[in-house]
Amino acid sequence: MKTIKEVIFFSALFFSLISCNDLVDTKKQTSMTEFNSDELKYRPSFHFSPKKNWMNDPNGMFFYKGVYHLYYQHNPDASVWGPMHWGHATSLDLKHWEEQPIALFPDDLGTIFSGSAVVDHDNTSGLGQEGNPAIIAIYTNHDSEKASIGKEINFQTQSIAYSLDSGQTWTKYTANPVLKNPGIIDFRDPKVFWYESDQKWVMTLAAGQEIQFYESKNLLSWTYLSSFGEGVGNHKGVWECPDLFPLPLKGTDTTKWVQLLSINPGGPNGGSATQYFVGEFDGTNFIIDSDFKSSMDKEHNFWLDFGRDNYAGVSFSNLSTEANGVVYLGWMSNWNYANEVPTTTWRSAMTLPRELELIHAEGDYRLRSIAPSNWDEYTTRKLAEESRYFEKQTTLVASGQINLLGAQIKLDLLDLKEEMYTFFLENKGGDVLTFGYNHETHQFFIDRSKTGKTNFSEKFSTKPSVAPRTKKGSSLAITIILDKASIELFFDEGETVMTEIFFTKAPFETFRLETSSGTATIGNLEIKELMKKQELLGVKKFFISFFNFLSSAFKFN
Ligand code: FRU
Repeated sequence: MKTIKEVIFFSALFFSLISCNDLVDTKKQTSMTEFNSDELKYRPSFHFSPKKNWMNDPNGMFFYKGVYHLYYQHNPDASVWGPMHWGHATSLDLKHWEEQPIALFPDDLGTIFSGSAVVDHDNTSGLGQEGNPAIIAIYTNHDSEKASIGKEINFQTQSIAYSLDSGQTWTKYTANPVLKNPGIIDFRDPKVFWYESDQKWVMTLAAGQEIQFYESKNLLSWTYLSSFGEGVGNHKGVWECPDLFPLPLKGTDTTKWVQLLSINPGGPNGGSATQYFVGEFDGTNFIIDSDFKSSMDKEHNFWLDFGRDNYAGVSFSNLSTEANGVVYLGWMSNWNYANEVPTTTWRSAMTLPRELELIHAEGDYRLRSIAPSNWDEYTTRKLAEESRYFEKQTTLVASGQINLLGAQIKLDLLDLKEEMYTFFLENKGGDVLTFGYNHETHQFFIDRSKTGKTNFSEKFSTKPSVAPRTKKGSSLAITIILDKASIELFFDEGETVMTEIFFTKAPFETFRLETSSGTATIGNLEIKELMKKQELLGVKKFFISFFNFLSSAFKFN
């Protein structure tokens, strides 16, 4: 119990801190004309990237006491994949991230592969303390020595670690592994959630070409329930990183269960991607919705993201949105070239978080990804226009108007005609990124073949990525988010998403739209220039720590 004196001291410190307005805009730094270091060129401002070395999948994401925690597959000794640890980063707003000390190191059972974390509010594991629930991480131990000898295939097992300080430091459970390998070569990536109606924990696990479900009352011992996946969906690669959660069907009182499953290779545009299944979960089995299955069998276009760079994503635990939805983020790369991308100090970033929504449209269930919308704290300039009619082409951002290193662009294409709508991001050095919509073939596309450094891998830009438009309708809403070396495209309110990375020689300076013939109309154009403002978050961070301090002092959490 903290003393009253301490509380008064911290209150005084807090109020003096917010009263001195030390908000510093880092605009000067990011708008520098030299564009010669990877940091300036490619280090994203709003997406998490590790300070140094390698990162892949997001792991163990949870929200607790006002802080978002992200762990991640990390090799701290090289900028290529290697012995996996769990790196750690925290955020107060999912846009500004702070790297923390490494959370989990390899041990006798192996390196630390992907997994999840839960807040054990009711102390079901017995590992928590009175008034201080344990955070439990459930991960795969990968015994690389055993794997390399090649005699046995049971080298992946599931283990747990617990934290009593809100995810900062971890203790491995002494009786690990908590789930042994039954003789399956790919047996990994446990994602655990609390199943309220049976008062139990459920684990979804990638097991060969299936997903297996396990149950537990205490997170320490697990019992097999059932399997899902045989003969359903895409099986052209390894099944990895499953996630299962309920989602309300928008506009109804119904709730469905959504199963995410990452696959590599086999993605719609090559390499890694994440497919989804819609159905019911009764505490034992995941039963795919029969209409959903027949649509998927006819044409499998049920991908969370059709771009090449969103993989292994899962949802945050201990977090529910206003709409009872889930918040998801993925790894913004692709196993086809992740180890070769031209950043040498660090490799790769995460996608932006997205709120997932389930809708029923054109006779099918569709999972929508909703882009973060609140950028107020980061917006340094804004352009807006209610509508614009043009012939052939129109400039949306002229040189010097908006710094396109960070921007959110929203617009509607109205009265679509049977033609191509192509957006161009360009610079004087000749780099050009094109993307858009072909209303004749009903396909979205993105082409990064002329974006500067592309030849580090043959697989990086072989051909444009495409995605079918599933929504019908004569107008098209588009949200575009640019952050240095990435573009995230949300078409039709996130019904179709494309996320891709690129490595230009210089920043893009202009943004324009062309139609293949005729005329076109744009509605609700809004362009925001986005920049990092570190100190503002410093104050916010202090506020949260102060709140946490008070809550632990007076035990009101
Ligand atoms: C997915 C994955 C997981 C595994 C991890 C290893 O990208 O292959 O299945 O746990 O990466 O780093």
